Amino acid sequence: MRLNRKDILGIEDLSVEELETILSTAESFKEVSTREIKKVPTLRGKTIINLFYEASTRTRTSFEIAAKRMSADAVNISVSTSSVVKGETLKDTAKNLEAMKPDCIVIRHSSSGAPHGIAGYVGCSVINAGDGNHEHPSQALLDMLTVREHKKSLAGLKLAIIGDVKHSRVARSNIYGFTKLGASVVVCGPATMLPPGIEALGCKATVNVEDALRDADVVMMLRIQLERSKGADFPNAREYSRLYGLDDVKLRKAKKDVLILHPGPMNRGVEISAEVADGPYSLILDQVTNGVAVRMALFYLLLGTSREDAPKAI
Ligand code: CP
Repeated sequence: MRLNRKDILGIEDLSVEELETILSTAESFKEVSTREIKKVPTLRGKTIINLFYEASTRTRTSFEIAAKRMSADAVNISVSTSSVVKGETLKDTAKNLEAMKPDCIVIRHSSSGAPHGIAGYVGCSVINAGDGNHEHPSQALLDMLTVREHKKSLAGLKLAIIGDVKHSRVARSNIYGFTKLGASVVVCGPATMLPPGIEALGCKATVNVEDALRDADVVMMLRIQLERSKGADFPNAREYSRLYGLDDVKLRKAKKDVLILHPGPMNRGVEISAEVADGPYSLILDQVTNGVAVRMALFYLLLGTSREDAPKAI
């Protein structure tokens, strides 16, 4: 089974059928990570390059683990020790990496559209691991998978995305994904963190956190992205936390069986209290576990050739 596309650049581009295929495939791959020998031979002989121009713990590591669990060779390029620091352009970097015949380049970049640019320069597959404020498709897929495991279907659910929406590629990808699968999405934050026109993506927007939380089935808290906002979007962390930080008191507005997500890394005590982050409704570490399965599924659906080598459920 393969997706009929070369690249995964954003959730906006994916059809409902493609989303369902990726999520079902990821569900099947979860079992591989529970085996004593966590490896299938599916992508033996394939080469995957992780090219990260921005810091990452979860995404970079899980793409590497996913590649290795599929028996692919994974190469991590640290931009700080690459020829990028000598001034090499993104295009030259991509063309030189392509000359070494990889099957897939996974790229994270601070500029929105950088993965799309690379995808146009190279013949191998490209996966967007987060581009600027634009999209983070594999994060949204793991978020959808995590909710689907608990709620069976996303149709009819209310998702509240709260925090620094303006700088959040996670928010954009999840708005596209959850609405395509039938959920309603409301984004919430201070007016300075809600980009004008965000409703055009298919969500509602509010500055009132109680309205956002009321009857929510799923609450996704977003990190304050100080590296992008440079502290200009809110007076101070204490005031932000009082108004928009999720704690046990605010959480009472949501449904009793609410699910709490956060893409990480968290600013504990700012956008989310430790009690909520570590509490009974939190699925934050489940999201990380599911990130490996989703990235295995993406590699399989873009690069896989042999049905016999896939896990039994595929
Ligand atoms: N969720 C996420 O993208 O985390 P990292 O920045 O650690 O990859």
